[in-house]
Amino acid sequence: MSERDPNRVLIFDTTLRDGEQSPGCSMTLDEKLRVARALAELGVDVIEAGFPIASRGDWESVNAIAKQVRGPVICGLARCSSGDIETAWSAVKDAERPRIHVFLATSAIHREHKLNMAKDEIIRTAVEGVRLAKSLCEDVEFSPEDASRTELEFLTEVVQAAVDAGATTINVPDTVGYTTPQEFSETFAHLRKHVRGAEKVVFSVHCHNDLGMAVANSLSAVLGGARQIECTINGIGERAGNCSLEEVVMAIRTREQVFGVHTGIHSQKLFPTCRLVSSITGMPIPRNKAVTGENAFAHESGIHQHGMLRHASTYEIMRPKDVGLSRTNLVLGKHSGRHAFRERVKELGFELDEAELNRVFERFKALADRKKELFDGDIEALVLKLDTESGGPWFLEELETGSRAGTDATARVRLKNSDGRTVETKTTGDGPVDAAFKAIEEATGIQVTLRKFEVRSVSEGEDAQGEALVTVEYAGRTHRGTSVTTDIVESGVRAFLEVINRVELGRQTGRAGTDNRSPARVAQAAV
Ligand code: KIV
Ligand code: ZN
Repeated sequence: MSERDPNRVLIFDTTLRDGEQSPGCSMTLDEKLRVARALAELGVDVIEAGFPIASRGDWESVNAIAKQVRGPVICGLARCSSGDIETAWSAVKDAERPRIHVFLATSAIHREHKLNMAKDEIIRTAVEGVRLAKSLCEDVEFSPEDASRTELEFLTEVVQAAVDAGATTINVPDTVGYTTPQEFSETFAHLRKHVRGAEKVVFSVHCHNDLGMAVANSLSAVLGGARQIECTINGIGERAGNCSLEEVVMAIRTREQVFGVHTGIHSQKLFPTCRLVSSITGMPIPRNKAVTGENAFAHESGIHQHGMLRHASTYEIMRPKDVGLSRTNLVLGKHSGRHAFRERVKELGFELDEAELNRVFERFKALADRKKELFDGDIEALVLKLDTESGGPWFLEELETGSRAGTDATARVRLKNSDGRTVETKTTGDGPVDAAFKAIEEATGIQVTLRKFEVRSVSEGEDAQGEALVTVEYAGRTHRGTSVTTDIVESGVRAFLEVINRVELGRQTGRAGTDNRSPARVAQAAV
């Protein structure tokens, strides 16, 4: 907290831990690093980078973020066991400001059915966990999991024990999204009143969205004295997700008079960060999503449009530019120069170094040769694909598809492997995309199960670019690939090839790609 500013609410981002536990949202190490860097730019105070004991992949990404991302506190999650805590410490210890976050369930349901532990055992285990973490790291957070369904008296006892054992942050999770705003602010007020030494620790709130109240419950906890909010970009997370960072931050900012607090978030970077996470996880931002959805600042009815023309504040409580939606849809084309392009990229909230800008500008020029007008969505897609484009081993050299209604479609692909081999295959299928996917499987010898294939337009006009998202399963794990081009069949094929490359790289490293198992599931298996 700048350290003792009583009105500063810390933003603890758990996109890379709780968010990544959301089905189909797992990320590779490189993707996690990109997100972590974007979160640091956004101004979050804490990044929960993962659950290091969950898998080798998780440990590696937490460790890479700890070593490479500067600014926010970097936190690793651990259960109250020595193995978990020591592993978490080994992953975060190189951070500028490391934190260990230990948790243990406290509710009667979890005590009885999950842990088979009595109340005194819970307290003893929590104290041992916090003490061990504290012996390694000054900054220790403790979470009584399922706090909102824990008897208030027992919850107070556990929190007291954790504070006495040295916890510096007490996080109170609504693990199953069960609480209500009034109930939760009372819980915080109660804990702050009855726990000795409460003034020395930061109370934190962590809400899930099962009843659609995660943001409201988090804000209510702030009114009850919480000064850290745990949240995720786009609200991704287990089941219905977590408290959405962009919504809670904008509520605090827009209704400052009500909440009387502020955050350190650079709100103009909200939209670019949300778009980045959406593109990496393949989870689209719903059109009507508060704050960042496509419709959030669109006005359809005549009365609203009329009001907006008179004065934007008639129907807008936030300015689009405050959340990084500076969309003018100023059209760029092949005659636009580097300077105009650079300005537009900047206005869209991206910060690129010279080399990156050069690479995107080259692609912009190539795209402008194929597409008359380039809109904001096109530029965003070019920037967002900058680091994620497939680096092989398989590269698409040629693609030819043919289809006629009522007959099988055909596809011919020629792929080149980075070992120098060129393979050409020709197949038929149910439509050109299916035929091309089969041709790639045949050429690479990798058979996957297609789970999802989606295409959406990223900009406007008949020649709009199509973003394809392919989700497949291979060896029990989910892999995703995305691609953007003006030809939707080519987009699909490139996205599919990206997935095949991930599988191939995983086979080469013996890990069949990223470890895509949910950390929670891995951890549960280990309990
Ligand atoms: O929802 C939850 O209880 C959690 C804890 C590990 C903080 O994610
Ligand atoms: Zn959670």
